[in-house]
Amino acid sequence: MAIILDGKNLRDKIFENLKQRLNNMSEKPTLAVILVGDDPASQIYVKNKKKTAENLGINSIVINYPSDIPENVLLDKIKELNNDNKITAILVQLPLPKHIDKFRIIDSISPEKDVDGLTPYNSGKLFSGEEPYVYPCTPKGILLLLDEYNIELEGKHVVVIGRSNLVGKPVAQMLLNRNATVTMCHSHTKNLSDITKTADIVVSAVGKNIIGEKMLKSDCVVVDVGIFKDINGKICGDVDFASASKIAAYISPVPGGVGPMTIASLMLNTVELADSKRLR
Ligand code: GUN
Repeated sequence: MAIILDGKNLRDKIFENLKQRLNNMSEKPTLAVILVGDDPASQIYVKNKKKTAENLGINSIVINYPSDIPENVLLDKIKELNNDNKITAILVQLPLPKHIDKFRIIDSISPEKDVDGLTPYNSGKLFSGEEPYVYPCTPKGILLLLDEYNIELEGKHVVVIGRSNLVGKPVAQMLLNRNATVTMCHSHTKNLSDITKTADIVVSAVGKNIIGEKMLKSDCVVVDVGIFKDINGKICGDVDFASASKIAAYISPVPGGVGPMTIASLMLNTVELADSKRLR
């Protein structure tokens, strides 16, 4: 049976450490979250981010807009937050409504307040192998989790499924920067299981139940980034946990794996932005 990559346990350790760091800060950081529209999942995520920040001693503000907000109102608000010395970190919850150009919005965030690490400045730094202000939250959480269990990355074949800007592309780059051999797969990939069967580590970020035991090599590591509700309302990941955990050496559960690590990384990033501000 596979060892569980326990994201809740590591999140709690990170929070204990963060509380101490925050205790020693004379000025508490402030995280500003912008939420556009009434997507139920986004509302839950944002509520959770605010509550978690406050429990740790990070100030947080949530700015809500209706889904028909014009793009320029959002751009003006981000400009105001960029110029507000009390704001440490800015997060625009994704997805945004279709009439809004998400790239224009993300590009307008000051790189030194870009807590998601998604601006062209920070992603450009990541992709050129330089240090960005911060790394994107979910990829950072995945690497922290693998490191916690001393899972070797150098020279390992990692298959990343999904090529989003939030997860697939940055996690692949971070793994490359750690000398892994990375294969990117996506919705147009042919013979996916032929590729996953050669993987030492599979990172699946698709949002559909696609990975079963037959697609995996014995003793591989499985990182499940997917999270969605099945027809019965049960929270599931991309991986069939019951069968995959029989063959894998390590596996992250859903819930309780990557999800808690994403929020831990967001809090870490907020504190790191506050620290880098003090040094500027
Ligand atoms: N929506 C789902 N995950 C994320 C995330 O990590 N950051 C932002 N901004 N939106 C998201």
